[in-house]
Amino acid sequence: MSLIKDKIDPENLPQHVAIIMDGNGRWAKTRGEERTFGHRNAIDAVRNAINACNEIHIPYLTLYTFSSENWNRPAEEVNTLMNLLVETLLLEAEEIFSKGLKMHVIGNLEKLPPLVKDQLLRVVELTKENTKGNLVLAISYGSQHEILNAVKSISNEVKEGKIDAGNIDEKLFESYLYTKDLPPVDLLIRTSGEIRISNFLLWQIAYAELQFLDVLWPDFTKDIFFQCIVNYQNKERRFGMTGEQIKIQ
Ligand code: IPE
Ligand code: IPE
Ligand code: MG
Repeated sequence: MSLIKDKIDPENLPQHVAIIMDGNGRWAKTRGEERTFGHRNAIDAVRNAINACNEIHIPYLTLYTFSSENWNRPAEEVNTLMNLLVETLLLEAEEIFSKGLKMHVIGNLEKLPPLVKDQLLRVVELTKENTKGNLVLAISYGSQHEILNAVKSISNEVKEGKIDAGNIDEKLFESYLYTKDLPPVDLLIRTSGEIRISNFLLWQIAYAELQFLDVLWPDFTKDIFFQCIVNYQNKERRFGMTGEQIKIQ
C-alpha cells in the first residue's frame, strides 16, 4: 500500500504526462558497466511508469524513447537500443493490450529499421480499439522537425488554395503535428538531473508543469511517479491569469 498514492486527489489529475527518460548511461557507468547495461535495466522503470499511470487512471502517457538526435550515438549503442525496442515490444505487447492501453507512436518512423517499424505498427494495430488509456512512444522524434513538417504541409495547402492563410490558428496548426489526437501536456518529468528539454514536444508543453528529478531513469519507481503527481497537484496553474481569478473559477 503506497502512502504517497493516497495523497493524490483523483479529481485533479494531469490528463497527459510526458517523461524524458534520461540517465541510463550514467546509471551503468556508476556500476562500472557499459552504457547499454543501463538501457537493459531501464525496462522495469518503463513498466513502473506505465503501471503507475494505469493505477491512478491518467489517460495519456508519452515516453521519450529515442530522439532524432540519438541517431548520432555510436552505431553499436543505436543497434542495442533498436534490438531492445523490438524485444520489449514482443514481450510486452500482450501486457499492453490486456491493460486496455492504446499505443501510439510519434516521430520519424521512416528512419527506423523495418523490423522496428513493423513491430511498432503491429502493437499500434493490436491495441487500436483499447480505451482504458493511451501509451505514446516518441521514437526517432524531434520537435523542431515535427514543427517544420507542419509548416511545410500548411504552406503547400495554402499554395493549393485549400487553406486561407488568414485562418491559420493554434487549432489548425496542432492538427498538423504528430500529436494531433493528443491533449496538451500537463506535466513533463525529466530524470537524470539535467534541466533541459532536448527537442521534446516544444509546442505541446507550452503550459506544462515541469519537474526535473535527480534520479537516474533505471531507478524510477511508482512512488516517485506518485510523488510527482502530488507535487503537480500542489501547483496553481494560472495560464496567464491571476491567482484570484483561478480561485473563483
Ligand atoms: C536515456 O539515457 C536513454 C536514451 C536517450 C535512449 P541516456 O542513454 O541518455 O543516459 P545518460 O544521459 O547518458 O546517462
Ligand atoms: C533525451 O535524452 C532523449 C531521450 C530520453 C530519449 P538525451 O540523453 O538524448 O538528451 P541530451 O543529449 O542529454 O540533451
Ligand atoms: Mg542522456
